[in-house]
Amino acid sequence: MTDAITDRDDFQATSDPGLLESADRGQVELLSYADLYLLWERQHWRVQDLDFTQDRIDWHERISPEERFQRMYGLSSFFAGEQRVAAELGPVMRACPDEQMRIFLCTQIADEARHVAFFDRFYSEVGVLDSENLRDRLEETSAHLNQNFRRLFDEMLARRVDRLAREPEDLVTLVETVTLYHMVIEGMLALTGQHFIISYNESVGTLPAFVEGFGNVARDEHRHVAFGARFLREMAARDRRYRDAIQRTLVECGPAADGVLSPPWAEEGARTRSCSGRR
Ligand SMILES: [Fe+2]
Ligand SMILES: [Fe+2]
Repeated sequence: MTDAITDRDDFQATSDPGLLESADRGQVELLSYADLYLLWERQHWRVQDLDFTQDRIDWHERISPEERFQRMYGLSSFFAGEQRVAAELGPVMRACPDEQMRIFLCTQIADEARHVAFFDRFYSEVGVLDSENLRDRLEETSAHLNQNFRRLFDEMLARRVDRLAREPEDLVTLVETVTLYHMVIEGMLALTGQHFIISYNESVGTLPAFVEGFGNVARDEHRHVAFGARFLREMAARDRRYRDAIQRTLVECGPAADGVLSPPWAEEGARTRSCSGRR
């Protein structure tokens, strides 16, 4: 039996409240923005170092066409999700009222770009799809997304970020955006999906380089969630309007977030479609 990935020292280093048992009692020592920046410097990794040779064999020879199709929902949600959050973070960074916050979010923009590059390289080296470049791969993989993904990312998140781009001094919208981005999308959806996908691959012994890279992605996400937790705690303590904004956003986005976890094929019963890809 393998140890949980979150028991590793590098995961514990983020002081992510999601990993701290004491958080359930309301007792958490959250890292400062400066601490999180220093942690980012210590936790770099390189997409180009991953060797996907065995992953390619696993994908085409050890994973059945039906299972490949079923796995495409999770992979596509992450690939497209990373692209969305990378593209949306600039206005959020600019709207933050403190220089240390902005410096940390600049590191997060670099992280999200690396996550897109990780998925792009995995798709390309393994031959997951027929498309030949990043733009076409994103478009081809988007056929596997569901409507709730589009509502959450392309409507609820994009609408708030568009407003921040126009009015960066709007702190209520900033609090709503961080609640949706760092707590709902990263804290609830991404971390849950990452740990499920990593442990599933470890239990069946598939996609070793993907597991290694996705573990690094998950470690980055814990750092991002730790930023969101600190930011929202500070803002909630500052003004009742910000506390209300957090609650309002959780209530509004909860149903769509819950729906993102359901693959379209889960409701269609037995599935006979398959994913061919390129050898
Ligand atoms: Fe990410
Ligand atoms: Fe992230």
